[in-house]
Amino acid sequence: MKIDRLGNSEIHVFEKDSLRVLREALDKLEAGFVSLPPSDASLPDEEGVARVLLEVAERLQDNYPYFHPLYAGQMLKPPHPVARLAYALAIWLNPNNHALDGGRASSHMEKEAVAEIARMFGWEAHLGHLCGGGTMANLEALWVSGQLHPHTTIVASEQAHYTHKRISAVLGLAFESVPCDRLGRMDVAALKRRLDQGGIGTVVATIGTTATGSVDHLPELLDLRDRYGFRLHADAAYGGYFTLIDNLSAETRRTYERIGEVDSIVVDPHKHGLQPYGCGCVLFHDPAVGRFYKHDSPYTYFTSTELHLGEISLECSRPGASAVGLWATHRLLPLVRDGEFAGMLQDTRAAALALYQRLQTEPRFMTAFPPELDILVWAPRAPRVSVASEMARSIFAEAARRNLHLALAELPVDFFDLSSVGMERDRDTITCLRSVLMKPEHLEWVDRIWEILVKATDTVWQQHPTHD
Ligand SMILES: Cc1ncc(COP(=O)(O)O)c(C=O)c1O
Repeated sequence: MKIDRLGNSEIHVFEKDSLRVLREALDKLEAGFVSLPPSDASLPDEEGVARVLLEVAERLQDNYPYFHPLYAGQMLKPPHPVARLAYALAIWLNPNNHALDGGRASSHMEKEAVAEIARMFGWEAHLGHLCGGGTMANLEALWVSGQLHPHTTIVASEQAHYTHKRISAVLGLAFESVPCDRLGRMDVAALKRRLDQGGIGTVVATIGTTATGSVDHLPELLDLRDRYGFRLHADAAYGGYFTLIDNLSAETRRTYERIGEVDSIVVDPHKHGLQPYGCGCVLFHDPAVGRFYKHDSPYTYFTSTELHLGEISLECSRPGASAVGLWATHRLLPLVRDGEFAGMLQDTRAAALALYQRLQTEPRFMTAFPPELDILVWAPRAPRVSVASEMARSIFAEAARRNLHLALAELPVDFFDLSSVGMERDRDTITCLRSVLMKPEHLEWVDRIWEILVKATDTVWQQHPTHD
C-alpha cells in the first residue's frame, strides 16, 4: 500500500466512513444516560493508547487479506459494516447476555434475532440462543442428545467436522464415523447397516461440510429416523443460511425443504451471517429440552422473573455485543428468500459455479464434483496422486505469491475419477486445492481469480517437466 508523507494510506483498502456513523450513534446512546451525575469520561493516557494502537495496527498487518476478493481460501470474511458498528457501539456498555441484569436490551435483541433464524427454518416454537461458535453450539446440541439418549452412540459422516468426535469424548458419549459417498455426503446405505447393529442414539447430518460444502441428504435420513427412532441433529454451521437461496441444485434443495423436520440445528452467524467471530447459534425444535439446563444461581437472576438467557445456555458470561451486531444485521438485511441477504449468498454460489465451469475446461485440472454450495475442490492432473498433491501445494504457493490466497484440503481419492484421467493411485488421499468463495464480490472477481490461477499453474507446470 502507498503511504503519503503524513503516513496516511493513499489507496483505500478499508471502508472508513462508517466511523462517522459510529460517532453519531454513540452520541445517541449517550443521550440515554444523561441523567447520571457526570463522571470522568476522558480518554486515559491518550498518548499511550495511541502509541499502543499504532503498534497493534502494525502487528495486525501480518495477516492474509481476508476482507479482499483475492482472499478465496478458508471460511473467512469480514463482518458487514452494520454488524461491526453495532458490535462496537455495544462495547461502550459491554453488556453480558448471561442475565437480563447484565444485558437487558441485548438479551431481548438476542431472543428476537434467534427467533428470526429459527423462522428461517420454519420454526415458530423453538428453544435457542447464541454462543461462542459452531463448536459450542454443537456441544450443546449433542449434550441434550446425550441427556435424552444416555449410553448410546453418536454418528456423523467421515467428512463431518472433527469437532463432533472431540465433543462426544468431552461428553463421555461414544462416537463413530460413517463413510461418505463419492460426493462427500454421508453414505446412507452404510448408515443403515450400522443402525441395524443397534445402539445409535443420535445421527449428525452435516448441511455443508467444511472441506467441500457437501450436504447430507436429509430426506433419506428422515426416513431412517422414522424407522430407527434416533435423534437427528443438523450441523448447518456453514450451510444453514443457504436455505434462503434459489440457485441450489434440485437435489440439494430437497434437503433444505426438510431441514425443519430435524430435532436440533446449529448455524453460525460468524460464518455466512456476516458477524464478527464469537457468534454461533443452537436451536432445538422442542422447547421442553430447556429442562436439562435448569439450575439455581445464587448470584445472577434478580431483576426479572422473565427467562434469562443463562438459564437456557451452558456458557454463563457471553458478549451482548454479538447479539446487538446480529440484530442490527437482520434489521438491515432480513432473512427472507427474496431479500438482499439471500441475493448475496446466491452470488457466492454463482461465483463457485462460474469457477467450476472454468476448472472443467482446463485440461491441467481435474474437478471432484460440482459444488453444492460455494466451496470448490480440484487437483492438478498428474501421472500419480503423490505428484498431483505436490503440484497442488506448489500452485497454492505460486498463487499466494501473486496475491491470490487459496486453501488446501486432504481428501479421499475416491472423490475423483482417477481412471478417466489415467492417474495412478499411489496414495489413498490427495492434497487438493480448495476455494471458499463466500464473498458476493467473488462473482465479479472470478475472471481475475482465474487469470492468476492459470499463471500460477503455468509456472508450476514449467517446474515439473516430467509431467508432460
Ligand atoms: C460444519 C462445521 N461444523 C462445526 C464447525 C466448528 O465451528 P467453529 O469453528 O465456529 O467452532 C465448523 C467450522 O468450520 C464447520 O464447518
